[in-house]
Amino acid sequence: MALWSGRFEEDVSDFTQRFGASLPVDKRLYAQDIAGSVAHAQMLAAQGVIAAKDAAAIEKGLAAIQAVMDAGEFEFDINNEDIHMSVESVLTEAIGDAGARLHTGRSRNDQVATDTRLYMKQRASDLMAANLGLREALLEAAEKHFGVILPGYTHLQHAQPVLLSHHLLAYVWMFTRDFERLAAARTAADANPLGAAALAGTTYPLDRFATTAALGFSHPVPNSLDAVSDRDFLLDLIYACSVSCLHLSRLCEELILWSTVEFGFITMADAYSTGSSIMPQKKNPDFAELIRGKSGRVVGDLVALMMTVKSLPLAYNKDLQEDKEGALDAADTLEDCYLCAAGMISTMAVHPEAMMAQAKKGYLAATDVADYLAKKGMPFRRAHEVVGHLVLLCDKRSCDLEDLTLADFQAESDLFEADIVEALNLEAIVAARTTYGGTGHEAVKVQLEEAQAAQAADHARL
Ligand code: ARG
Repeated sequence: MALWSGRFEEDVSDFTQRFGASLPVDKRLYAQDIAGSVAHAQMLAAQGVIAAKDAAAIEKGLAAIQAVMDAGEFEFDINNEDIHMSVESVLTEAIGDAGARLHTGRSRNDQVATDTRLYMKQRASDLMAANLGLREALLEAAEKHFGVILPGYTHLQHAQPVLLSHHLLAYVWMFTRDFERLAAARTAADANPLGAAALAGTTYPLDRFATTAALGFSHPVPNSLDAVSDRDFLLDLIYACSVSCLHLSRLCEELILWSTVEFGFITMADAYSTGSSIMPQKKNPDFAELIRGKSGRVVGDLVALMMTVKSLPLAYNKDLQEDKEGALDAADTLEDCYLCAAGMISTMAVHPEAMMAQAKKGYLAATDVADYLAKKGMPFRRAHEVVGHLVLLCDKRSCDLEDLTLADFQAESDLFEADIVEALNLEAIVAARTTYGGTGHEAVKVQLEEAQAAQAADHARL
């Protein structure tokens, strides 16, 4: 029999009961549902709406239910549409009238919004912790491989040499920004809808500030219509997850490329690779590919909820029941991806000689040769052209800039002198990029310290 059985003469069919249920998804919110009910009951008693002994019976009854649920022994019945009805029906069965008084001045509309906000505040914190785990792995790798040089790319063409640490730190900053987005999503969830009831507030003298304090929210949602229909906090969280998944997909794409025979920059640990059932030689970066693939699914979760709330009139509409599955999925997926990516980074083998061998190809010193001329007074545009001619010469001879003689250089410009050899040295080229945020060794040391400081500061925000 449904909670609203008074007005109905017929039950829904088994099919529509199942179709309309959110229990398979929202049973994960049981602890938050119970916490919300305890806070509500205590507030009702404090306000004289229910008797103190009823509130005590409710609290005791809920504690017993929670113990069974914690033990994983609660038998969920799909005839209860959601977690709220599951808990309430068992409570009322156990303690009678006191249980039936719990829902005074409350609706499942404010209840579900409260549960979801409480749950997502926790999940945002979990994700922030996992985000720090991945950043830690990247920071450790950046420290461990300090000094290793690899080609930096634009258009996936060799551009200029960079430190591997610099490359890894670029990802650290992406994930540092993601931490900020997750923190913002946690703040967005941190408002209490309880007391909004179905949509308009109630005639009971509810103290919304008391439940706000009891549940650890920062403030009550100021408008009851908004309280029951706002899902921005979920959009914010899924958006934060989506952006971070996009960053992970970029990182994983590079790890996949770097572990090809063509690059050979890294070897993934066996624990993060799989073989082939037919090709005995294969070692595939499956997990990096999987993370890359999962980014699509999380962006899908975001688009799905955006479409669900699009054009929804105020206030609660059953469409909103579709909110949780994607949000939970996005959070679960990102958490696993963070964990997996951190493991891949901390266990991969780096091959500095392969990186250096590639850095020596593709005229990575060309910009610095042009700078050499410009520093001797030649306008940079003219210097660019001179070095372009030298590169063309190398192309024709199938050699590198290093293989050219001083006479070859001087044939293009008499500003070239014997010290041009130093301008071709990759270590020196990297080290010379001393500007803040550049790839020079000293600049990267400063950056590493800043990233570590941000890491420590963010730890304190968990
Ligand atoms: N199961 C519902 C949900 O997840 C709870 C709120 C139901 N409210 C209602 N008026 N049908 O959204």
